[in-house]
Amino acid sequence: MSSPARAAAAKLSINAVSKRYGSLLDGVVALEPVDMAIADGDFVCIVGPSGCGKSTLLNIIAGFESPTSGAVMVAGNAINAPGPERGVVFQQGALFNWMTVLDNVAFGPQALGWSAAQARETAMRHLDLVGLASFAHRYPYELSGGMQQRVAIARALANEPEVLLMDEPFAALDHQTRELLQEEIHRIWKGTGKTIVWITHSIDEALYLATHIVVMSARPGRVKAAFQTTFGDSADPFISTTPEFVEAKRQIVALLREESIEAQRQEAMK
Ligand SMILES: Nc1ncnc2c1ncn2[C@@H]1O[C@H](COP(=O)(O)OP(=O)(O)O)[C@@H](O)[C@H]1O
Ligand SMILES: [Mg+2]
Repeated sequence: MSSPARAAAAKLSINAVSKRYGSLLDGVVALEPVDMAIADGDFVCIVGPSGCGKSTLLNIIAGFESPTSGAVMVAGNAINAPGPERGVVFQQGALFNWMTVLDNVAFGPQALGWSAAQARETAMRHLDLVGLASFAHRYPYELSGGMQQRVAIARALANEPEVLLMDEPFAALDHQTRELLQEEIHRIWKGTGKTIVWITHSIDEALYLATHIVVMSARPGRVKAAFQTTFGDSADPFISTTPEFVEAKRQIVALLREESIEAQRQEAMK
């Protein structure tokens, strides 16, 4: 994922990004230098043990945190703050409960200076994309968790970002809802060609969705392994039972297991 050829053409490049929280003496090193070159239209899933720095990395790409060293470039430009070309979806709870669904989704375009009519038009279009046009005038608290996450996705897409950053967006949902939303995000990704960086705990989810899977080490996080995958392109509803899928899963489980054991050892020493 970080060959020089890919780096030159990258939509998103993460160049030796490290992060330490707190002081040199008693701070926490969350990330060791991480390099990734992500091409236009890639769907990158990041997996790694709890506390290994996945959210830290995503927050640095989003511009919510600054790296201790290194830089993030979007289409060749260094970023140091949040920007509309990067849309973010969190695990839950990021909607404005006092605004209708439509106003939540129109909020970003309006903040970008679009007219109210244009902002509402684009908001409706994106609500339609996630199948929620008929809920436009409801409030977030009236919707199920899965519907709220679809609104959050519509809201992120309504700013027409080049890159979509998602931090365990389906982690709080039940299994069935999660599978349906996986299909939906796959369809949206295919339809829009967005570049997506997706953090997940689910190896199956990563194998279904990703073009590339990055396995991170225990803290301090670094890239332990990176794979290309194509299972998401298969129309086979039983793809997860094929020997190739099972073997890919076995490899990732083995890599993650080593890191989870290390993460637990670190926890026990605290
Ligand atoms: N704002 C912060 N201040 C201090 N330490 C933090 C902060 N955010 C995260 N950390 C620490 O950095 C490490 C990585 O956290 P995080 O990026 O949230 O991991 P992950 O998302 O992989 O579970 C953890 O040890 C966590 O406690
Ligand atoms: Mg996290």
